[in-house]
Amino acid sequence: MTSLADIAGVGADPRRGGYSRHGFDRVELELRTWFTEEATRRGLDVECDRNGNLWAWWGPPGDGAVVTGSHLDSVPGGGAFDGPLGVVSALEAVDVLRAKGFVPSKPFAVVVFAEEEGGRFGVACLGSRLLTGAIAPEAALRLSDSDGVTVAEAMAAAGLDPALVGPDAVALRRIGVFVELHVEQGRGLVDLGAAVGVASSILAHGRWRFSVRGEGNHAGATLMVDRRDPMIAAARVVLAARQAATSGARATVGKLVPNPGGTNVIPSSVDLWLDARAEDDARTRAVVEEISAAASAAAAEEGCSVTVTEESYGDTVVFDAALRDSLSGVLGGVPALPTGAGHDAGILAGHVPTAMLFVRNPTGVSHAPQEHAEPDDCAAGVVALAAVLEELVR
Ligand code: GLV
Ligand code: MN
Ligand code: MN
Ligand code: MN
Repeated sequence: MTSLADIAGVGADPRRGGYSRHGFDRVELELRTWFTEEATRRGLDVECDRNGNLWAWWGPPGDGAVVTGSHLDSVPGGGAFDGPLGVVSALEAVDVLRAKGFVPSKPFAVVVFAEEEGGRFGVACLGSRLLTGAIAPEAALRLSDSDGVTVAEAMAAAGLDPALVGPDAVALRRIGVFVELHVEQGRGLVDLGAAVGVASSILAHGRWRFSVRGEGNHAGATLMVDRRDPMIAAARVVLAARQAATSGARATVGKLVPNPGGTNVIPSSVDLWLDARAEDDARTRAVVEEISAAASAAAAEEGCSVTVTEESYGDTVVFDAALRDSLSGVLGGVPALPTGAGHDAGILAGHVPTAMLFVRNPTGVSHAPQEHAEPDDCAAGVVALAAVLEELVR
């Protein structure tokens, strides 16, 4: 809690509430400096990989390491725990192990992945996707933020060389096993009365951009019958998303940008972003198809056009069952929970044995300022993480 309090002032967003900390922006860089200082103070050696992920090594770096960590960026107006809890717990777990006189007998690292939320450039898990080759470097480098700053420019400003960005076989080989601790983003552990659990699976999920074009015009002088208003079609997309997401699927429009965006202006275009998730690929694709069909019909009816672009996607992740069961065993048999939230652990799970620990969230709220975890549960998370790391590193 002291560590979280240390960074409580960094990236606090009085306008939205909570925190706005985005990949390679001023506050995320400040958090990276904080992490580097905290890790160095513990005698860890910090290096930054080609894709902007930070690695703090306890002992010499090497292949097949036990790696733990998370991310320091947030969604716009996010909570204090999503990301930082996993990083802080990793550092605290090092302290716990060291206090026991433990010395890792194989390579061991704490990692901070870059731009996990995609809050700035739109693609979640950017650092781990680049590392594993889940996104092409050319595609990643030309992504831009709302000010038009590209990933290439932001990385260069942070001291990285855009020419070196992309799949990193050396970094990937160094990960023998990855464990990410995370605040739970639902009420599973509350309902089960447990402070800590392990993750079983992640829903298939992705992001799609709907660009609706119409005719910009005057709000007072244009008769209703003469309008080609893309906001009308956009509104129908939002409603179609709610209707399509049945049987456990989820569909959200959390961002909608009218152009030019004036109260007395019929917009000439509206961009909106759909986040869709479901149990498997087929169901997720079916949900997006249904919403896309509704968008085409709504656009046609309004004399507009619409294009749909997939911006990122990942199929269902089922975490390594043997690893999950063995970690649960180390913890005395904690519950295993599925989650609808995406994580760097989900990207890495396709490449190396990967597990997640969840810490109880009393309200279940996440991606919002009300996100919370009690100090006792955070402490239980650190103890649990230290126990599983000790087991994995021996
Ligand atoms: C990231 O946290 C996501 O699930 O969108
Ligand atoms: Mn998140
Ligand atoms: Mn997270
Ligand atoms: Mn996430």
